[in-house]
Amino acid sequence: MIRSVVVRAAKGRVSEDAAVFLAYRETKRLSPVASRLDGTFDGAAAALLASGTFRGERGETRTVSLKRGRRFVHAVLVGLGARAQSNAENVADALGFAGRALQSLRVDTAAIVVDEAIAKEAAISIALFAHAATKGFILATHDPTVSKTSSSIRRLAILSDLPTRTISAPVRRAHTACDLIGRVRDWVNEPANLMGPARLADACRKLCAEFEVGCRVWNRADIERARMGAVLAVASGSREEPRFVVAHYNLEKKSLPLVCLVGKGVTFDSGGISIKPWEKMHEMKGDMAGGAAVVAAIAAAASLELPIRVVALVPCVENMPGGAALRPGDVLTTCSGKTIEVLTTDAEGRLILADAVAYARAHYRPDVIVDVATLTGGVVVALGTRVAGMLGTSETHLDAMRSAGERAGEPVWALPLDEHYFAMVKGEISDYKNYAGRNASPITGGAMIGAFAESTPWVHIDIAGTAWNEGVGPSYQTRGATGYGVDLLLRFLEIVAESR
Ligand code: BES
Ligand code: ZN
Ligand code: MN
Repeated sequence: MIRSVVVRAAKGRVSEDAAVFLAYRETKRLSPVASRLDGTFDGAAAALLASGTFRGERGETRTVSLKRGRRFVHAVLVGLGARAQSNAENVADALGFAGRALQSLRVDTAAIVVDEAIAKEAAISIALFAHAATKGFILATHDPTVSKTSSSIRRLAILSDLPTRTISAPVRRAHTACDLIGRVRDWVNEPANLMGPARLADACRKLCAEFEVGCRVWNRADIERARMGAVLAVASGSREEPRFVVAHYNLEKKSLPLVCLVGKGVTFDSGGISIKPWEKMHEMKGDMAGGAAVVAAIAAAASLELPIRVVALVPCVENMPGGAALRPGDVLTTCSGKTIEVLTTDAEGRLILADAVAYARAHYRPDVIVDVATLTGGVVVALGTRVAGMLGTSETHLDAMRSAGERAGEPVWALPLDEHYFAMVKGEISDYKNYAGRNASPITGGAMIGAFAESTPWVHIDIAGTAWNEGVGPSYQTRGATGYGVDLLLRFLEIVAESR
């Protein structure tokens, strides 16, 4: 991940190894500001633009490399597509191509020219443009390999003639979000032999320490004391002991709104005794993507000093079919005292989240609980890999989350939820059952979790489709984990903080 990101006045020569110049389909020539900087490259970008061979399609990328003494410098011209369609998502996608190009050239330092002329033409504000450009570029340079072999860009400069104060805040926000998205990607890509419940909890603790967020990690004895029977039951089939991560930001500032974020932290989901078929089982190392996202979001909120209180809770377990594993037919008692009959051990996410959500409600009495989980295969069938499923009991918070998704380029789509669906998960011999048939499975799965929020406003995000990119995502998504949810939650927290 890029260490340092700076905003600098677009004056003099470009001192970085490479500069990215931007052009819309409608752009005929570089602005005076850009063309002065292009002087560093003997006018290479202007020449490309004038050649008529560059059409300005979104992501269209041309590079001219020039020898300067013993090293090379590169002028990169990148298309933004049609001016009218230059929304945040498309700007980020265009800059993702630039990031990829410069990553493969192995440059040490890079610059993006975000001049007023280009930013003003966009269909979004200058601040959003700068944010999207920075985000797309940085995320595309993320190295998804476990070994992290490719050398990464060390420093990124945003060169601009805009007043620094109008773009430095959005650029800083983008850098923070990307840093945390990168960490989530790393955790989610990490194989389950290297990232079990204890390691995940440890990673959460370290991240919290770095961002000055209070964090406690409960071990099994602590979880027993809290009577979280569902968390313990799911963990019981694995050699790996469970953990429960409790992170606090601003908790002492009682006048601020309180949001509880709850994330699914299943470090590997074999299905348990109701074991999964082998074909895609390896992808289940990413079944802790929700847990990673909520901890990254609380760290981001702290880094940006948002005026809001946040609690992040992550039950960390491995779902395995060991000799002590929970069985289909078992009845579990959650920390709320309510019971759940296990009809399939593969619907484990809702079990551990029932305990965590019940604890969030009873212990913190928050203004809203948001749970984030790779919960169902059904949501992937319904919505695919670009849009997450959403459910909830509070229209205002659902609206806030919908706006957050649009702003973040991490869209959510609300599924219907009423008494009828809650009735489907009522148990026959217990309060609830963890499986209600294939019909509407993303809704019944979510509803079972929501029942434990009781009257506390609650929103559920099912990221089973969006947490993982199989190659159809935008240019700034690398293969595998996407880091989906971090920017969405951060935008959501910003909206709740603003509306207090
Ligand atoms: N972790 C899975 C859901 C999942 C599927 C995540 C595909 C990512 C990609 C979850 O625990 C699960 O197994 N869900 C089952 C529930 C069913 C047995 C009620 C599902 O949706 O198939
Ligand atoms: Zn799962
Ligand atoms: Mn499962």
